[in-house]
Amino acid sequence: MDAFRIRGGRPLRGEIEISGSKNAALPIMAAALLTRERCVIRRVPNLSDVRFMGDILKSLGAHVEFQGETVIIEAKDIHEFGDYELIRKMRASVCILGPLLARLRRARVSLPGGCVIGARPIDLHLKGLTMLGAKFSIRGGYVVGSTPALSGAEVFMGGRVGPTVLGTANIMMAATLSLGVTIIESAACEPEVVDLARFLTSMGARIQGAGSPTITITGLPELHGAEHEVIPDRIEAATFAVAAAVTKGELTLKGARPDHLGAVLDKLREAGVGIDRQGPNLVIERNRSRLRPVDITTQPYAGFPTDVQAQMMVLMLQVPGISVITERIFESRYMHVPELCRLGADISIEGPTAIVKGGKPLSGAPVMASDLRASAALVLAGLAAEGETTVKRVYHLDRGYECMDEKLRRVGARIERIPE
Ligand code: EPZ
Repeated sequence: MDAFRIRGGRPLRGEIEISGSKNAALPIMAAALLTRERCVIRRVPNLSDVRFMGDILKSLGAHVEFQGETVIIEAKDIHEFGDYELIRKMRASVCILGPLLARLRRARVSLPGGCVIGARPIDLHLKGLTMLGAKFSIRGGYVVGSTPALSGAEVFMGGRVGPTVLGTANIMMAATLSLGVTIIESAACEPEVVDLARFLTSMGARIQGAGSPTITITGLPELHGAEHEVIPDRIEAATFAVAAAVTKGELTLKGARPDHLGAVLDKLREAGVGIDRQGPNLVIERNRSRLRPVDITTQPYAGFPTDVQAQMMVLMLQVPGISVITERIFESRYMHVPELCRLGADISIEGPTAIVKGGKPLSGAPVMASDLRASAALVLAGLAAEGETTVKRVYHLDRGYECMDEKLRRVGARIERIPE
């Protein structure tokens, strides 16, 4: 297992190219199962989760070929028996459920394991697909689904904390080949859902309302192959925006979509960080002025994204005063807090709320990565801290950040990948 060795205290300056979105690419790759024809998907990030998805599709019988940032998928003859171990390892594999039921009328996936940020149930996925006509049983850790035929329905997908992103993706994909019209109420509005809808539409699907809480899909007998370019990764862009702020530097994020980052840019401006939109690029500059503490509550899109909560906490550690962060999406997404405290942070947790007492300089120490975004926060803290920080188990980062150490080194970070 690799680790990152970081020497902090140096401002980051220069340009970072934003990669394609992991959370768009994964369901879009699964959507290629909906047709026998060839699909070409561009700007796919080189991540272990993406390669996992490729291996899962191969275990279902699809032809999958990576050519740089492009993946070619041809699901001519597929079966429902995927690789249990692979499917169990990655939660996002749940989004093969909808396409398999739509294409084969049966599906078998492993119950996705929970992870460090919470139980991660799939009850809403199963509820929605059941309303389209599927029947499920749980056998030996598998979810086994079947249907004589999927047919359109009105499906309410809201859960206890709001919509489900991959749940919306599953129902939308299944509905494209269902008989009749499906209306998804309380659908997730994330840009990744919109990008999936764009890809499905290019395959011939009839979808209206993606990006709004109500999506209408008119089912068709079949879909055809398509080509698609994945949107840039808004969470990667947000992570590097915070990196510029915490190191008192100035970064140009090339290819970031400012229109996908409204809530994040709003909070950075409120904190006193300089943001300049230059077409598709973003320039982030830590103003000379003192930063101000801000309060954050994570929400479904277009609210503040839960995937940027840990990173913003690191910025608030640099700001004298009290910042209150409330995590409303996942029940335990504070794995980064005890590790940040090892760097000298003063944070206390009260249920879903973190009270951040900022203003004390961080000092480097060995820390352990856990959740993908918590690990990113530890890297940011290491860049800001005095002295040396070692972040262990960076395979968590490699799941969701393409060449993070290389990208940071190119803008002046003293970070190297070492075998642990
Ligand atoms: C997607 O996960 C993202 N992953 C997550 O990013 C992101 O944090 C999350 O959406 C929320 O924005 C991918 O797109 C691959 P949800 P997803 O279903 O779809 C509860 C990252 O770091 N829920 O929107 O799995 C669930 O427990 C990852 O890139 C149910 O109760 O998340 C959570 O509390 C982490 N029942 C809330 O809804 C269900 O059936 C939102 O989860 C489904 C979800």
